[in-house]
Amino acid sequence: MGSEAQSKAKFIVLLGAPGAGKGTQATYLEEELGIPHVSSGDLFRENLREETELGKLARTYMDRGELVPDEVTIAMVKERLARPDCAEGVILDGFPRTIAQAQALDGILAEKGHKIGVVPYIKVADEVLLARLAGRWTCRQCGAIYHQLFSPPKVAGRCDECGGELYQRADDTPETQRRRIEVYFQQTTPLIEHYRERGLLVEIDGEQPIERVRADLLAAIRANGRS
Ligand code: AP5
Ligand code: MG
Repeated sequence: MGSEAQSKAKFIVLLGAPGAGKGTQATYLEEELGIPHVSSGDLFRENLREETELGKLARTYMDRGELVPDEVTIAMVKERLARPDCAEGVILDGFPRTIAQAQALDGILAEKGHKIGVVPYIKVADEVLLARLAGRWTCRQCGAIYHQLFSPPKVAGRCDECGGELYQRADDTPETQRRRIEVYFQQTTPLIEHYRERGLLVEIDGEQPIERVRADLLAAIRANGRS
């Protein structure tokens, strides 16, 4: 890839616990930066809906709030990142989640002459996370994310964007939410130090209103990303 294209490339990894607001913010960033939002959770949910073999396997882990094995997760994301729309950059949400995934990501990007520009870490206290997850509603059609108190739709049960039906995710039961947060602390928090040591981590206060978090994220990306 030419140096001009490379200097414009933006490869962003959003880190944060379940409910921190990764999906909410990635939707805004996608529009603002003109690069795709790639969510490993959304890719798994697509496979679940289409009842693929990968979807059937992933369900057994997702329903328990456990991580899907690295090998299958890495292969799925690698395939997504190879598509042409990811050539100029991508906003990764929910991947990587383990050190092995982070190392695989470096390899995938290096093959195309890219590297991660910035890793915004959306920081939210545990007790806030559960309230966020408990009130979340997602559009079945376009994936827009709402919260019954913090970001309600104009009409209950209907998406403002596309009129689609809103639903609550199968892994948003109280027991699975707690397990997802535990798994995050056991398996994903090591990535915070991993990226801090490499000078890529920028902490964002995720307990502010959605618009403030959005403004801080954009400022962090513009200051630190290769854009
Ligand atoms: P995934 O879909 O990635 O779920 P998650 O990481 O648990 O994160 P969430 O999507 O729950 O939270 P979010 O940070 O996106 O928050 P959101 O913006 O929705 O993964 C699901 C499962 O797939 C995993 O458990 C695992 O099994 C599997 N998986 C996925 N990736 C994997 C990987 N790499 N390796 C292995 N397995 C993998 O916001 C939450 C709520 O808060 C919403 O209601 C929103 O409106 C509200 N909100 C957001 N921001 C604010 C704010 N600032 N103030 C008030 N409310 C807010
Ligand atoms: Mg999400």
